[in-house]
Amino acid sequence: MARVFLTRTMPGRAALMLAEAGHTVLTWPGELPPLAVELAAALTTADAALTTVVDFVAPAMLSRSPRLKVIANMAVGYDNVDPATAAGLGIWLTNTPGVLAETTADMAWALLMSAARNVALSDRETRAGAWRTWSPTGYLGVDVFGATLGIVGLGEIGQAVARRARGFNMPILYHSRTRKPELEESLGLVYRDLPALLAESDFVSLHTPLTPETRHLIGSAQLAAMKSSAILVNTARGGIVDQEALIAALRSGAIAGAGLDVTTPEPLPLESPLYAFPNVVITPHIASASLATRSRMAEMAAANILAVLAGKAPINPVNRPQLPRALDT
Ligand code: DGY
Repeated sequence: MARVFLTRTMPGRAALMLAEAGHTVLTWPGELPPLAVELAAALTTADAALTTVVDFVAPAMLSRSPRLKVIANMAVGYDNVDPATAAGLGIWLTNTPGVLAETTADMAWALLMSAARNVALSDRETRAGAWRTWSPTGYLGVDVFGATLGIVGLGEIGQAVARRARGFNMPILYHSRTRKPELEESLGLVYRDLPALLAESDFVSLHTPLTPETRHLIGSAQLAAMKSSAILVNTARGGIVDQEALIAALRSGAIAGAGLDVTTPEPLPLESPLYAFPNVVITPHIASASLATRSRMAEMAAANILAVLAGKAPINPVNRPQLPRALDT
């Protein structure tokens, strides 16, 4: 049977599903992901790999892995693997759409609320004994209800964020590559081009994939266009924001704060100036991190592997090899 490499211990039944189908499951034992050289070595003998967002599968790793038939990325994003290179070599690439939108939207909301209402800051200060008394002027934040939310990218996560905003009575602006009139109607959204959305929003939440087009979509000009009272939330990918520009904008007061679940790089080095801003909340890329959701993601990735190893097309392909690699008989 096939050899399936899992780059980490997976929650839920993913490993069991693969083993029950008779495949040999090789799970990377480390708490940290395999180094590039270790990943490359593991792939050379694998028929399938279950990867995470931190496993950067270089094109050379793919071309040196003659048995590899599918990479099932346990994520909706797949900027860690080049789909075209994989397709050219006959390797399927799959992702996990549909199962993490609500959990990720919850986290975007948690960051938004935390940055707006000083949740993380006041928790830190309370634990440190720095909270001395209730104060009429202490920890003053900004109201979320009724404020204008700008959503950049209206895929399933952006839509889930919009649904939550309705409960907060927020005017909701959105920008995406294509207008979505049916969602404008059902969710009460208003389309804006990016400069107008940035200029009008009190909160801007990013929900685009990282592609060559969206790399540094938010740079100095975009940050300068935002309200000085605005808060930027990023649960998508660090590379969508020009981080140096963000640091400069926070320093100059061009924007008021940020909630960041993703940074460049990850983990963010301790010497990053971002840590010094009290109005910035930083979490370790955990937007999809509930037990139920991470289990569903891993199981969906396993299901994609099982389909390919059974000679079928995967359920969630993001590329389409013209000549998928033949199964060993
Ligand atoms: C994704 O699915 O792309 C997330 O970043 C992983 O949590």
